Amino acid sequence: MRRNYKLRVALVVGARPNFMKAAPLLIQAKKFPEIKFTLIHTDQHYDYKMSKVFFDELGIPEPDIHLGVKSDFHSEKLGRMAKALEKAFREQKTDLVMVLGDTNSTLAGAIGASAVGQKVAHVEAGLRSYDRRMPEEINRVVVDHLSCLLLTSEKSGEEHLVAEGVSPTKIKFVGNLMIENLINSLPKIKQCEIVSQKKLLNKEYVVTTIHRQENVDDPKILNRILKTLKDVSMNIKIVMPLHPGTRKKIIDFGFTKYLKYFTCLDPLGYFEFIKLVKCSAGVITDSGGIQEETSYLGITCCTIRDNTERPVTLTQGTNKLFPLVNLNTESLLAHINNKNGRKSPLIPFWDAGVSLRIFNELQKLY
Ligand code: UD1
Repeated sequence: MRRNYKLRVALVVGARPNFMKAAPLLIQAKKFPEIKFTLIHTDQHYDYKMSKVFFDELGIPEPDIHLGVKSDFHSEKLGRMAKALEKAFREQKTDLVMVLGDTNSTLAGAIGASAVGQKVAHVEAGLRSYDRRMPEEINRVVVDHLSCLLLTSEKSGEEHLVAEGVSPTKIKFVGNLMIENLINSLPKIKQCEIVSQKKLLNKEYVVTTIHRQENVDDPKILNRILKTLKDVSMNIKIVMPLHPGTRKKIIDFGFTKYLKYFTCLDPLGYFEFIKLVKCSAGVITDSGGIQEETSYLGITCCTIRDNTERPVTLTQGTNKLFPLVNLNTESLLAHINNKNGRKSPLIPFWDAGVSLRIFNELQKLY
């Protein structure tokens, strides 16, 4: 029998960074029984270590629907996800589709919803790198312009959206959901023993993650990054949890010779990864979310990218950009060794109240 809920929301997840944002929402949802959440997993990420582990750790319930979309081609996978989501939204008769961040699953959710005329709410709206080489930037722009509720994580979000002609009435500054998940997880992270298990010494290693298409798809660029990291490893140990996509590229391009310079790990669970970061001397990454998590934790972050869509991590956090043109060992080490300004900064609405603010906005829809 169909219960009389006041609002039916389809929450779309699919790739690793979506799961950390879904967790606080689904915890908060228990306090709002009049809102029905249907969790839909596109299976963009399908390895246990890229997906299920986060459900287990963060207490995310088993998805109501798994789409199991598979394809080796970017746009085919995107199209299949959007088609399968459209079908699911039709069948579920939801009132609102909620999408998170900037992954291909986020875009597929917004396209599938628009195909059936459903409203879209976008969590982490308005972030911009203005770099169209990144699929994530295209996803951000398209999803924002298909959304009627734009939930921003930092102040720059509203400025970008207004400049693009989005009505300010659609934009709500609610804060950073990923940071709420981090705050919720701190007790479990504290108990985690990965640092001693891997025989690492506090503040005597750097954590590195590289997976972005613009850094790993071109052998010249990937070679340059790996060579620089090898040089860094002559000064400080590098611990590298390897994304399966990056591992594949390293093998395909014949770059496995570099791996002996690093402590390579499989992708880690959330608690282990954050514990590793918290005890490190610094992080070298091209991830989006890690720029935010390090800023919150007061851990130095070197971002191997020309730009960031999260400027607050540069102005109020611990992040510094290292564009490829002048990427060098000395400047990376100088930022890691610079002990100034490493306090956890207080960035507005990067707190434990984000999911509640989102639910307050959802309540205004009925
Ligand atoms: C995706 C997101 C990115 C996010 C990252 C985190 C997009 C456009 N990008 O990038 O924003 O930072 O996730 O992890 O959505 N693969 C596996 N096993 C998996 C998942 C992926 O082997 O469980 C392989 C895929 O088959 C593919 C490659 O890794 O060949 C890249 O995966 P894809 O989902 O295209 O993008 P990510 O690099 O993971």
